[in-house]
This record gives sequence, structure tokens and C-alpha cells, in this order.
Amino acid sequence: MVYTRAIVGLLALCAVAQCQRFDALNKYIIDKAAGTSIPVSATSKSLNVSIGMTLIQLTSLDSKSGDAELEAWMTFQWTDTRLSWDSATFNDVTITRLPVSKIWNHDVILFNGKTSASETLALVHSDGGILHIPPTTIKTRCDVNNYTTDGTVTCSLKYGSWTYDGSLLNLVSRSTSVDVSSYESGGIAWHLTDHAATREVKHYACCSEPYVDVTFTLTFQVKGQRYSGWSIFS
Ligand SMILES: *[C@@H]1O[C@H](CO)[C@@H](O)[C@H](O)[C@H]1NC(C)=O
Ligand SMILES: *[C@@H]1O[C@H](CO)[C@@H](O)[C@H](O)[C@H]1NC(C)=O
Repeated sequence: MVYTRAIVGLLALCAVAQCQRFDALNKYIIDKAAGTSIPVSATSKSLNVSIGMTLIQLTSLDSKSGDAELEAWMTFQWTDTRLSWDSATFNDVTITRLPVSKIWNHDVILFNGKTSASETLALVHSDGGILHIPPTTIKTRCDVNNYTTDGTVTCSLKYGSWTYDGSLLNLVSRSTSVDVSSYESGGIAWHLTDHAATREVKHYACCSEPYVDVTFTLTFQVKGQRYSGWSIFS
């Protein structure tokens, strides 16, 4: 009886050779993370969640309706110190990977379109830093008002938290631009001519809290045309 309990104890500790390298650490983090709320302490102001966009591809763009489909890697970064660990206790592991469903996750979404994201793991660092980069298909409607004058269409992708105002979740932009270093421009009738990331803070008459959004603006111009007037586009 005592002997059996000793063996069970060993297995539960997961310190023996047949255990996988990350088992004990991931279990330790998941146990600590279970049922947690937004990592804002009683005294701290708010949680910074940074957002960035890496544009991969413009799949389609209709110059009449403005309907567009894009592929992008969205980048989200925040810190949840409750998940931190002492790497010396866990074989010097300083980084692990976990499903975001197992930890507290933000609710930042695209307001003016539909997205579908691949279920990818988040990187979790021993200091509680979290990096999540879900590859995302974005469907939105772009502004075509300038198409007839200069052949351009502008897509604005507005992101914000669905439920948290800025006093709890402070959305910040990783950059003032979109990362286009991985953009695949071939095989589509449009040039990417301009891009930007803009953070905006709004106050409404009703409420004292700030409302924060980050908007990614992408301008595309139709290829292989001279943009001198209406006639060439009709
Ligand atoms: C949070 O973001 C603000 C910018 O909006 C910055 O000034 C502040 O230092 C950030 N706080 C932390 C803890 O990173
Ligand atoms: C349309 O073109 C005008 C003049 O260049 C510019 O000021 C405006 O921002 C453009 N609209 C959009 C939606 O890009």
C-alpha cells in the first residue's frame, strides 16, 4: 500500500525520465491559469495589449462593391505575471507553448468585417509575457469612392476590445505601419501603395471611460493602368 502510493507520487511529480520535457511546466501553468480574469491587480491601472498586423496576401478585391478578402498574421502581446515560473525549477525552460483557451485571453476583434483565425498556440515566457500570432482570413468592405479618379481602393480594419474599455484593457499599436515584409504581391491586379496603423482614443458623453481602437489602413491601386480619368475605368 505504502509502496503503491510512493509510485503514484513519483508519476504525479513527473520528474522521472519517461516524462516529457514540458509536461510538468505546462501543467503548472495551466493549473495556475484556470479560471483567471483579466490580469489587472487592485492597484495597477490597466493591462496593455499590443496589436500588430503582418499582411500576407490580398486574395480578392471587387472595385465595384469594395468587398475584399485578405490573409494576415495578427500579432497580440501582453503580460500575465500570474503565469510566470522559475526556470531553474523546470530544467531551465524559459519559454513554452500553450493553447490560448487554457489561459486568460483578450477579446480584441475586428469591428467592421468578419475574421476566421487558425487555432494556433501562444508562446508563454517565464516572466509571464505572452505572444500570440493567429493567421487570419479577413473579409471586409473597402472604400471605393476614389476608384474612378485614381484607381485606388482603401481598406480600413478597425480593431478593439468587445467588452473592455481603455481603463481596463489599453490597446496599443506595435507600430505606426503594417508589416509588409512578407506580403505576396504577385498574381493579383492590385499594388499596395500605402499602409498605416493608427490608435484612437474616444470619449463619449455618457461615460468617463476611454474607448480605444487601432485601425489598419491599406490602400491598393489597380495595376497596369494610367490614372488620368474616368474613361479608362469604365
Ligand atoms: C502601456 O502602454 C502605455 C502607452 O499607451 C505606456 O506608456 C506604458 O508604459 C505601458 N505600460 C507597460 C506596463 O508596458
Ligand atoms: C480619396 O482621395 C482624396 C484626395 O487624394 C484623399 O484626400 C482621400 O483621403 C481619399 N479617400 C480615401 C478613402 O482614401
